[in-house]
Amino acid sequence: MTRNKRLRPSVHRSVMPSEGDTNLTSRRAQWQERTLDGATRALLARDERSFLRQSVSTPCLNAVAKAEGIWIEDLAGRRYMDFHGNNVHHIGYGHPRLKRAIAEQMDSLPFAPRRYACEPAVALAEKLAAIAPAGLSKVLFTTGGSDAVEVAVKIARAATGRFKILSFWDAFHGAGIGASALSGEMLFRSGPAAPLVAGPMHVAPFGGYRCPYGAESPGASGEACARMIDYILSRDGEVAALIAEPTRAVPYVAPPGFWRRVRETCDRHGTLLIFDEIPTGLGKTGRMFACDHDGVTPDILVMGKALGGGILPIAAVLARPGLDVAEAWAFGHYTHEKNPVTTRAALTTIEIIEQEELVANAARVGEAALARMDEMKHRLPAIGDVRGRGLVLGIELVKSRETKEPDNALAEEVLYRALDGGLSFKTTMGNVLTLTPPLIVSEAEMMRALDILEKAIGAGRSSLSSRSR
Ligand SMILES: Cc1ncc(COP(=O)(O)O)c(C=O)c1O
Repeated sequence: MTRNKRLRPSVHRSVMPSEGDTNLTSRRAQWQERTLDGATRALLARDERSFLRQSVSTPCLNAVAKAEGIWIEDLAGRRYMDFHGNNVHHIGYGHPRLKRAIAEQMDSLPFAPRRYACEPAVALAEKLAAIAPAGLSKVLFTTGGSDAVEVAVKIARAATGRFKILSFWDAFHGAGIGASALSGEMLFRSGPAAPLVAGPMHVAPFGGYRCPYGAESPGASGEACARMIDYILSRDGEVAALIAEPTRAVPYVAPPGFWRRVRETCDRHGTLLIFDEIPTGLGKTGRMFACDHDGVTPDILVMGKALGGGILPIAAVLARPGLDVAEAWAFGHYTHEKNPVTTRAALTTIEIIEQEELVANAARVGEAALARMDEMKHRLPAIGDVRGRGLVLGIELVKSRETKEPDNALAEEVLYRALDGGLSFKTTMGNVLTLTPPLIVSEAEMMRALDILEKAIGAGRSSLSSRSR
């Protein structure tokens, strides 16, 4: 008791919003009050009693009973198009071919102790080398993205003999104590968990609509950010690597030429470039990797999430052979390093993405969605900006287009209204409706989701303004 009391001040220190629908808001409570039945409430109560509480998850919003294709279904049988899915559901939930492949693999070889090679792990390594940007032919597998990020950092340190890592403010690179030190969202890196590991440095990112450098256009924002990266690397000769998501989660697409310029800057200063493609890899942005749009190859690429097909956890670190420099050490010594079942799942997931031509679908549906979002912006003054690429899309809500003041209350209102309409998604930075549907989504489903959102934004604004009168 005394201990808890002592912890309280720092534990409850307020944090900048990362997501709008934190689990403690009154809107969340009201939605649950009017929506959830007794059985669901009982399960949520058991969940809360058992799990350590944490922002954005426990206590939970609702309980899920089924997940199939683009849909999740709650205990009461309500179905929601899942336009969040933690970015694991590229091929849709429960793909029959993937389930079969996993079952067959469990029958033939369920596990491989670390010092034994196995066919699916080798085949996956070879396949990843074949689809990744040219030259990234050496791999290590981990169970999750955060671990993969930390392995990438160790490789960069070993290869350069330097220890600092530069990353963007507002980025997220994982929950481990090393990966969260690289992350730039206070929710994950400050407060009671600090201090984290030594070495991370942050730079303000590019972002056309809300540029931290004060630039007015995406191109000028990219220019300012690239200059600052050059400035930092020229002042500090100890930076082993720059780690970044080529398409930012907010979501901001890098302006043309940005990554080429940063690549050149990194080369000039002997700093490695690590791309975190954990959410964007395997086609989410309409190309197999987001960096393929820019034609820029990093020294190390990290991927995860959808790699396990939305069923099993697996992530990967891909590096060029020149970085294979730490053979006397064990940077990726994970129990499931060469698990035949998770690697079989990943291999089959990639085959499904290729054979069902899901990357092209993501590009096509994403383009139609952006055009529609642009029309919505013309009709709805609450929309300050729409942006994205492929199936990483964002609608930024503001109180006024002139001041660009974020409308977090409206974003949260829209979130719950959309749930009532059968659409689940998450908000980013408090006021950006962030849509990341699976790659199997059809154009008709995408338009249906945008219909739900358009209605929710219109109704949400009217209701909030009548309440404030
Ligand atoms: C960009 C990025 N990097 C790293 C991670 C961490 O991945 P994991 O949750 O598998 O550890 C995430 C997860 O959301 C992410 O979005």
